[in-house]
Amino acid sequence: VSLTSPTVIRNAVVDTVVLGHHIPKGTDIFIMSNGPDFFSPPFPIAEKDRSESSQTAKGRIGSWDPQDLQNFRPERWITVDDEGRDAYDSTAGPMLSFGLGPRGCFGKRMAYLDLRIYIVLIVWNFELQKVPVEFSSYGAEDKMTRQPQQAFVRLESVKNGI
Ligand code: HEM
Repeated sequence: VSLTSPTVIRNAVVDTVVLGHHIPKGTDIFIMSNGPDFFSPPFPIAEKDRSESSQTAKGRIGSWDPQDLQNFRPERWITVDDEGRDAYDSTAGPMLSFGLGPRGCFGKRMAYLDLRIYIVLIVWNFELQKVPVEFSSYGAEDKMTRQPQQAFVRLESVKNGI
């Protein structure tokens, strides 16, 4: 659900308007990857407050069911491709894990590779056990990156790991 990086930041280089709010030149705008739309339903936004480009871009990115946002459900990213096979759809929902555009994450490809390696090593070497319910949550401290305070799984070494 939540992201390694809690926010993507952009600085307004001109006076502008975002969702009906006047933003003076020089203001830092934080695009949050937590809170509403991630842990709770999104704020309602009147269509007239959206920019023209926002309105015409509608439908290019999917949206999540606001009722199950808090659930770990990785299959929300899976769609069926032309040949009827399950396929990963990076546009299935509104996520900016690695930011976007010319200042998007420089290390994205490397991070993908790292994550594959971590997951394989974890699956080879550990069993995933449940954590007692009082310690199970997405609770975290958001700094430059998100630092979890609790987790839903604990790792137990397996005998014949590598
Ligand atoms: C899961 C791992 C990672 C996540 C979630 C992540 C996420 C992000 C995000 C959200 C940004 C800001 C993008 C924006 O403002 O549009 C960023 C920027 C950046 N990331 Fe990553 N990152 C990850 C791993 C890495 C790795 C492994 C490297 C280097 C090897 C890296 C190098 C950078 C650099 C250099 C920038 C600044 C790009 C710029 O401002 O031009 N990141 N990252």
